[in-house]
Amino acid sequence: MIDKRLLKAMPMTKKYIALNVFLQWLSLLCNILIMSVIAKLISKIFLAAISERELLSDAILLVFLIALRSLFSLLAAKASFKTTTLIKLRFRKLIFEKLFKIKDNYLQFLSSGEITQVTSEGVDQLEIYFASYIPQFFYAMLAPITLFLTILPLDALTALVLFICVPLIPMTIIMIQKWAKRLLSKYWDQYTKLGDTFLEDLEGLTTLKLYEADKDYQKKMDIEAENFRKITMKVLTMQLNSISIMDLVAYGGAALGIVLALAAFNNQTIDLNETIFIILLSADFFLPMRLLGSFFHIAMNGMAASDKMFKLLELEVKDNYSDKFDPNGDIELDHVSFNYDQRPIIDDVSIKIRKNTLTSIVGPSGSGKSTIANLIIANLEARIGKIMINGQDVRSIDPTLINRHLTYVGADAYIFKASLREELAIADQSADDQKLWSVLEKVKLARYFENLNGLDTKILEGGKNLSLGQRQRLALARALLHDSKIYIFDEATSNIDMESEEAIMEVVRSLRDKTVILISHRLANVVSSDMIYCLERGRVKEEGTHKELLEKTGLYRSLFLQQHAYEDFMMEDLYERAV
Ligand SMILES: Nc1ncnc2c1ncn2[C@@H]1O[C@H](COP(=O)(O)OP(=O)(O)O)[C@@H](O)[C@H]1O
Ligand SMILES: [Mg+2]
Repeated sequence: MIDKRLLKAMPMTKKYIALNVFLQWLSLLCNILIMSVIAKLISKIFLAAISERELLSDAILLVFLIALRSLFSLLAAKASFKTTTLIKLRFRKLIFEKLFKIKDNYLQFLSSGEITQVTSEGVDQLEIYFASYIPQFFYAMLAPITLFLTILPLDALTALVLFICVPLIPMTIIMIQKWAKRLLSKYWDQYTKLGDTFLEDLEGLTTLKLYEADKDYQKKMDIEAENFRKITMKVLTMQLNSISIMDLVAYGGAALGIVLALAAFNNQTIDLNETIFIILLSADFFLPMRLLGSFFHIAMNGMAASDKMFKLLELEVKDNYSDKFDPNGDIELDHVSFNYDQRPIIDDVSIKIRKNTLTSIVGPSGSGKSTIANLIIANLEARIGKIMINGQDVRSIDPTLINRHLTYVGADAYIFKASLREELAIADQSADDQKLWSVLEKVKLARYFENLNGLDTKILEGGKNLSLGQRQRLALARALLHDSKIYIFDEATSNIDMESEEAIMEVVRSLRDKTVILISHRLANVVSSDMIYCLERGRVKEEGTHKELLEKTGLYRSLFLQQHAYEDFMMEDLYERAV
C-alpha cells in the first residue's frame, strides 16, 4: 500500500511526515482526555452529583483541551503543507532536469501532452500521497493501538472486538487495490491521450480551419472526450462503492462496540462514566482508517501518475561528462552514421569544419542537414562514428558547456511574450541598454523599435506582432548576445523577406572570429563560404569552395543553376509585368 520508490525519491520529507504523525497523535491524546471529561460530566449530571464549581472547572478544562487539540491539528496541517511544498518543487525540478538532459530524445518515450499532465496534475496528486496519505497510513495504525490500550483496562472484550474490526478496512482496500490499479492506469492513458489530441488540435487549429477539417477533428476529440468521461465514471463508481463498504465496516464496527459497552454496563462490569467514555471513543477507532481509505483513492491516482513519471525519471542519461571544454578548435565528423528506426539518415559522413571559418552545408530537402546540426550540438547522438570539437568527443562534454559555447539558430526560433529588453536578456542578463541597442542595430531592427516603445516594446506570445523576418532578426540579435565561439544557422533565413534575409546574411558573414556553420537551401547565400559540403541522401556528395564546386559539374552546380535560373526567371517575369 506504500510505494517505496516514491518514498526513496523524497528522503527529505520523512522528517515532516513523522512530525505530522506525532502531532496528530498528540491531538488524539487530547481527544481522549476531552472525551473522558465529557463522559464524567454527563454521568455526574445524570446522577445529579455535581456542584456549580465543579461544572465551571470542568468547562474551563474542556475549553483548554479543545484549544490544545486544535493547536496540534493546526501544526500537523502545517507540517503537511511543508511536505507539499518540498514535493512539488523537488519533483518538478527532477523532471525538468531530466528533460534538459535527454533533450529532443524524450519524445521517443513520452509525448509532450503526457509530460505536461504528469508535471502539472500528476505532481499535484502526488502531493496528496505524501502530505495526507502517508502520514495517515501511520496514524491510522497508531490511533487504534492507543485507543485499544486506553479502553483495555476498562473493558477488555469491547476493546478487543473494536481492535479486531479495524483491519477489515485496509483489507477491503487491498481487495480492491488490484482492480483499482488497472482501472487507474487505463484512466491515465485515456487522460493523456485526450490531452495530446487537445494540444495538437489547438496548435494546428488555424490549419484545420483553413482546410475545413476542424469538424472531423472535433469528432475525433469528441470520441476521446466521451471515452474519458466513461472511464472517469468507472473510477468514480469504484471509489464510491469502496467508500460505502468502508463506511459499512467503520460504522458497523462502532455500533458493535457501543452494543458491547452497553452489555457490559448492563452486567455492571463498568460504570456509567466508563460506558459513556467507551461509546464516545468507539467511532474514533475507525475514523482514521476510513480517512486513510478515502485518501487511498487519490493517492492511487498519484501513484498511477508516478509510474509515468518514473518512466521518464528512470531513463538512463549519462552524467559522467567532462566539465572541461575549449571550443577554440576545428569541428570534425569522423565516419558518422545515424538512423531513425533502422532507416539510415546520415550515412558515413566525414567532414571538417575549420575554426574561425564559414562552412556551409547544402543539399536537397531531407538530405540530413538539420540532423547533422543536431548531432553537432549533441541533441542527437550518433551510434556510429565520432564527432569532435577541438579533439573532444561531443558526447563527453557537459551539455551546459555545449549550450554555452554553441549557439543554434533554427528557422523558427521561439519568441516569448515579454518586453524587447526581457526577450534579449534571455541570452545575456548582464547586457546594458547600449549593448542591446548595438545588436539591434546589427540586425537592422533598431530603427523599427525606436519608433515604438524602444526596449520596453511589448512582444506578444510567439512574436505574433512581428513579421516572420523581424522575428528571425530578433532571434539573431538574441543569438549574438549569447556571444559563443560556435554558431550554427539552420535555415535561419528560410521563408522570410529579402530585406531580412540580407540583413541576417550580412551579420552571418561578419562573424569572422567565430566558427560558423551555415545550413541553407538557398545557394546564393553560401557563395562566399570558405568551405561547402553538399549532401545527398545522408552522404557527402561534393565538397569544396563555390568556385571549385561549380567547376565540378555535379550536384552543386545543377542545384545552383536551377535556383539561379528560377530566380532570374522570376525577376524577368516581374520586370516584364512592371513595364
Ligand atoms: N524525428 C524524426 N523521426 C524520423 N525521421 C526523421 C525525424 N527527423 C527527421 N527525420 C528524417 O530524416 C531525414 C533528414 O532530415 P533533416 O536532417 O531534417 O533534413 P534536412 O534538414 O536536410 O532537410 C528526413 O528524411 C526526415 O524525414
Ligand atoms: Mg533542415
